[in-house]
Amino acid sequence: MNEIIEKFAAHFGKAPLAVGKAPGRLEILGNHTDYNEGFVLSAAVSQNTEFAILPVEGNRCRLLDLKRDNKVEFSLDDIENPVPGSWANYIKGVISRLAKRGIAVSAFDGAVMSTVPISAGMSSSAALEISFCYALKDAFGIDLPPTEWARVGQEVENEYLGLKSGLLDQFSSIFGREHELILSDFRSNEVMRTVKMPSDYLLIVANSMIKHNLVDSEYNNRRRDCEAAAAKIAASEPSVKTLRDVSTAMLEQYRELMTPREYRRACHVVGENERVFQAVEYLDHGRINEFGQLLFESHRSSIENFENSCPELDYLIELAQSIPGCAGARLSGGGFGGISIHLVEKSNADDYCRRLSTGFKIRTGLEPEIIRCTIGAGATSRKL
Ligand code: GLA
Repeated sequence: MNEIIEKFAAHFGKAPLAVGKAPGRLEILGNHTDYNEGFVLSAAVSQNTEFAILPVEGNRCRLLDLKRDNKVEFSLDDIENPVPGSWANYIKGVISRLAKRGIAVSAFDGAVMSTVPISAGMSSSAALEISFCYALKDAFGIDLPPTEWARVGQEVENEYLGLKSGLLDQFSSIFGREHELILSDFRSNEVMRTVKMPSDYLLIVANSMIKHNLVDSEYNNRRRDCEAAAAKIAASEPSVKTLRDVSTAMLEQYRELMTPREYRRACHVVGENERVFQAVEYLDHGRINEFGQLLFESHRSSIENFENSCPELDYLIELAQSIPGCAGARLSGGGFGGISIHLVEKSNADDYCRRLSTGFKIRTGLEPEIIRCTIGAGATSRKL
């Protein structure tokens, strides 16, 4: 945290009062299960966003992105209007959602420094929201439980920016554990347990470099289909509240009630929930290749059932199946472009990354961003 403290002081002429720090996240398995109250295996990564803050007089807030040398100013009287494309929306959105809870934030100077790749599918926006939340927590003594902070971030996405995402990103950024995966239940919003990563394997992220314009509307459509499928089953099975309560057998039993598209969306979510538990069992017993096969199966289900992949992601997964050293790979996060994750033997990692990158470039003409991930700890804060 020392670098951001020094740079803050150099720019604003005074030291910050508090610094919040929050990591990006990787969704390992459990795709689009969070808003269906299901299960996800995820991890925080060692790439972080830091937010340094100093309360000031008046009602104007000054923000500085140290990495991109980008400055934004806004008034606390004008936080309810997101400015299209501005990163300050995540900050203003948090202030607005705290106001809704009756918590007032006074003016401040803030500086951000991040190593989380932007728009890559590692939740740079959740890392920004949570680093700011944790800086506020210490600077203004705001006492909310960690899950409530995660909800504040989720509401910024859902209500302030209109993306109907689940709690996964903010939750993983807060509850992630160093060197371990977390298995989370998104009905009770709790970490059920941690799961050891195989020590001789590495998680490699390969970015397809594709970002579709319609991601938000496609995401929201998927959510609507899942909710419609659950509602149709619930009409005959009152114990069903969401797809979390639906088994494969039940899905087949009520298949005729759903449109073919709703059925396929539900198949993906129900299958992912089942794969998550199977994965934990395989990881507990060191059965890495079988765990890897579940990652490939998850990707196949994204292609066939959820339709949230794209040709570039599919090609990355096809390469993963042909280059030695990879136990499994799949798209990770919302989909429709973005990143894939690859579980690769450490001893083969250099060769794997080189061949993946070359193969992808030859086929698509795109240079994939490739990141070797280490699993980091969850969000922290420090009052100076
Ligand atoms: C995005 C959302 C999450 C989750 C994943 C898909 O990352 O922000 O809430 O739904 O997609 O699993």
